[in-house]
Amino acid sequence: MSLPRNVEIIEVGPRDGLQNEKKTLSVELRVELIERLAKAGLKKIEAGSFVSPKWVPQMAGTDLVLDRLNDNQALMSKTGVRYAALTPNLKGLEGAIQHRAGEVAIFSAASESFTQKNINCSIKESLQRFDAIMAQAQQINLPVRGYVSTIVGCPYEGDIDPLKVAEVAKHLYQMGCYEVSLGDTIGVGTPLTFKRMLEAVMKEVPVNKLAVHCHNTYGQALANIYASLQLGISKIDAAVAGLGGCPYAKGASGNIATEDVLFMLNGMNIQTGVNLDEVIEIGHWICNELERDNQSKVAQAR
Ligand code: HMG
Ligand code: MG
Repeated sequence: MSLPRNVEIIEVGPRDGLQNEKKTLSVELRVELIERLAKAGLKKIEAGSFVSPKWVPQMAGTDLVLDRLNDNQALMSKTGVRYAALTPNLKGLEGAIQHRAGEVAIFSAASESFTQKNINCSIKESLQRFDAIMAQAQQINLPVRGYVSTIVGCPYEGDIDPLKVAEVAKHLYQMGCYEVSLGDTIGVGTPLTFKRMLEAVMKEVPVNKLAVHCHNTYGQALANIYASLQLGISKIDAAVAGLGGCPYAKGASGNIATEDVLFMLNGMNIQTGVNLDEVIEIGHWICNELERDNQSKVAQAR
């Protein structure tokens, strides 16, 4: 089995992480976090979400965060970083365009109940909303990433049929998403269920257009990422210090820590272009600001 030589890490800590932290960080600290991550070599960073502040108060001020990030064009051109924002609907897209997000992400799920709880509509309705987002984004060549949540298990519905994941992923890809990220929202996947799911999805979406997004709730994320690498996946979402979780998935913990993914990939001679030592330092610093423990095993060991 050949593993990819290069892997792209998509840093989701400032969005997926911070959206579920008890302490809401100031715009200044969010900007500092994101810019430090860019300097460490992360070229795709989720900077926030244009969602209802009543639903996710931690992401309020994403407009200001993006304005500040865009003010620092010198850093952007030096590092080549691209900042992304989540946009569940046209109102969100308008904000993302106005505040010059480098890409946007739309998000649905393979489970009806989760979609309803997360974005207050059915899977079908979410995909219809996304058609309108895609049409506008394509007019201005704004890249759109798609997410499918609950790819192996749902907090409300239990096991998820891989064919349902494949159906939603195919829809997102065919409507124009340049990449589809497969989210194990509650971290219940194991290498076997991951492989079954990926084999179904890869029949519909080319493997180089897929990413995996593993919450580490049950400690399975690295094993699932390794299984994904074996199937040819070369894009991995991760969050510095393993921050966060998901507000609509009870008991969810954060994404696998960026540090832990980097340590594993470095150990397998897979290139990422990201400096592990710098990410460890950033993780310790931000956990201190958030007054929480660092979830990265690698950071704890250093
Ligand atoms: P709704 O209540 O159905 O929306 O929510 P609405 O259109 O009826 O509007 C209600 C209010 O929200 C109105 O304000 C709107 O203006 C406002 P009011 O009149 O009450 O003052 N509103 C907005 N405000 C700001 N930005 C917007 C926006 N849209 C409406 N874009 C909505 C629908 C989607 C807005 C809501 O359900 C929502 O914001 N949900 C948040 C979902 C979210 O952020 N979830 C976490 C991210 S997804 C995730 O973490 C999973 C992932 O990581 C992958 C994985 O792990 O599996 C990606
Ligand atoms: Mg997530």
